[in-house]
Amino acid sequence: MAESSTADFVQPTSFEFDAESNAAIDAVVAKYPPGRQASAVIPLLDLAQRQMQRQTGSAWVPRVAMDTVAKRLSMPPIRVYEVATFYLMFNTRPVGKFHLQLCTTTPCWLRGSDDVVKACHAATGVKHFGETSADGLFTMTEVECLGACVNAPILQVDDDFYEDMDAERTKALIAALRRGERPTPGSTTGRQTSAPEGGATTLTTLEFPASIVATGD
Ligand code: FES
Repeated sequence: MAESSTADFVQPTSFEFDAESNAAIDAVVAKYPPGRQASAVIPLLDLAQRQMQRQTGSAWVPRVAMDTVAKRLSMPPIRVYEVATFYLMFNTRPVGKFHLQLCTTTPCWLRGSDDVVKACHAATGVKHFGETSADGLFTMTEVECLGACVNAPILQVDDDFYEDMDAERTKALIAALRRGERPTPGSTTGRQTSAPEGGATTLTTLEFPASIVATGD
């Protein structure tokens, strides 16, 4: 793949969807009525980013991939650039092998996201948000609410949510990723989904309360 340099990273100068992406694109575009293919811009950008991860190990959308999406959907490139630069889920510059997305919005902050952030800095060597570790393994990004506040604080690694995090569990997760392991996503304290810590406190029996049985209400 030919490449051209920018200030601090290299932009490829060509991009083509591979067979795996093309099969998915056909299915996505078919969901929209004729003439409305531009509605598929977000899924196509996502497919481009996933293909880059398969091919280069870094999940990002280079400018030429945006141009390829624009051509495929018969839309002006600027409209694709607008979408790609608006949504944080699209990386417009290379990221590390593991993309650590740290929620620091109020519920996560109240539940200790500062400790998770510090643990990530210490375990990866990344000094600031937006930077990648020297070994190319980890990029740290600060994100707004990930919609999983009930199990705050949340550390998202690529597509996976790790929940109920603290400093020790963050360091253990990063060590596991370094070893090539992928711990099971979800709550790291063992609770079932977002059930109360310590187990369920309601609906613990199939028996109806006596008062309901007596009145028939
Ligand atoms: S505030 Fe972190 S997931 Fe909502």
